[in-house]
Amino acid sequence: MTPAVPQAIHARLSEAAIFLVVTLEPGPQTQSAVRELCGDLAALARGLGFRAPEAELSCVVGIGSDLWDAFFGDPRPAGLHPFREIHGVHLAPSTPADLLFHIRAARMDLCFELATRILARLGDGVAEADTTSGFRYFDGRDLLGFVDGTENPAGHEAVEATVIGDEDAAFAGGSYVIVQKYLHDLEKWEALPVEVQEGVIGRKKFSDIELDDDVRPSYAHNVLTSIEEDGEELEILRHNMPFGDPARGEFGTYFIGYARSPERMERMLDNMFIGDPPGNYDRLLDVSRAVTGSLFFVPSAAWLEAAAASADTAPSAPAPVPDTPDSSPQPSARDGSLGIGSLKTRDPS
Ligand code: HEM
Repeated sequence: MTPAVPQAIHARLSEAAIFLVVTLEPGPQTQSAVRELCGDLAALARGLGFRAPEAELSCVVGIGSDLWDAFFGDPRPAGLHPFREIHGVHLAPSTPADLLFHIRAARMDLCFELATRILARLGDGVAEADTTSGFRYFDGRDLLGFVDGTENPAGHEAVEATVIGDEDAAFAGGSYVIVQKYLHDLEKWEALPVEVQEGVIGRKKFSDIELDDDVRPSYAHNVLTSIEEDGEELEILRHNMPFGDPARGEFGTYFIGYARSPERMERMLDNMFIGDPPGNYDRLLDVSRAVTGSLFFVPSAAWLEAAAASADTAPSAPAPVPDTPDSSPQPSARDGSLGIGSLKTRDPS
C-alpha cells in the first residue's frame, strides 16, 4: 500500500510566513465551508504558487479538538485534545483555536494573498482571526540573537519524527502541531552578559556552536528540550519565526512544532515551564512570555481531499484506533460547541 502523503510540513524554513489562527461560528454553513476549503486548499496554494514558483508557497492546515468533535466526529485522531495549560514556574496558557493555517513562502505577498483568500472562503463563519506575520531574521536568528532551528531533524529523520504511522493507522500520514506566541522582554535580555545568555540557550551566540557539557547549565534550553524514550531521542520539527512591531515595543517568537504525537512536545513544555527536576526551569521564560497556546491535528493530504467529498461523515478509514505509549489522548469536552473566543478567554455560550 502507498503510504499516506503528509501535507507540506517538511517545507524548508522560508523567508516569510503567516500564522493564521481562526475560531469559527458553529453551523451547517460553516461546516460546508470548512469541508470545501479542506478539499480546495492544495489547489488554491498550487494555483497561486504557480505564478511565482521560485517562492515555494506552501500551506499546512491543522484542526483543533473542539472543531474536530463538532464537524468530523468519530473516529478521531488518538492524540488530539485541547492544548494542556501548564501552571509551572511560568504559565503556558491554552487559548481557543479551531483552525491553523501555516503559510510559508519566500515572499510575504504570496502568504498575504493566500491568507486573504482563505479568510474570504470561510466568510461569516469566522468568529475571530489572528494573523501573525513572521520573517527570517539574518541567518535564521530569533530576536534574542540566537540561531533557531539548528538541531532540527532533516530528511528521513524529519519524516520519522513527525508523520503518524501504524500507531494510529486510520490517521497515517497525519501529524500534530503546537503553536505558541511568545513576547520577549528585550531590555531585560540585553542587560544579561552574553555568557549568561549562552548558558540560557546552551549554545554560543555568534558561532551557534553547542556549549560543552561541562559548562552547559542543567537548565539550558537545549538540555531541557532534549528528551529520550528507551535510549532514543524523541525529536520534533520546529519552524519558529520572529515577529514584531517595533513601534509598539512588541518583539516575539512564534513557536511552531510538529511531531507524530503531542506527548513529546508536552514533555518538552513541562521541562521548560515546570522544570526537570521541578524548579530547574527554562530561564528563557524569564524573558519570554507565552501569550497563546494551541494544539491541532494535521491530516494527511488524502484525508483533506476526502473531507470535501463527504458531507456528513468523517472521511478517514474506519479502522479502530490503537493507543500507543507515545500518544496519550486526554478527554476533551465533547459538547459539540466550538467554544468560540480565539485568542481571548473561551466563552462557552
Ligand atoms: C521563545 C520561544 C523559543 C525560542 C526563542 C527558542 C529558541 C531556541 C534556540 C535558539 C535553540 C538552539 C538552536 C536549535 O537547535 O534550534 C532551540 C533549540 C530547541 N528548542 Fe527552542 N525555542 C523556543 C521555544 C521552544 C519550545 C516551546 C520548544 C518545545 C516545545 C522548543 C524545543 C526546542 C528543541 C527540541 C530544540 C533542540 C534541542 C537540541 O536537540 O539541541 N523550543 N530553541
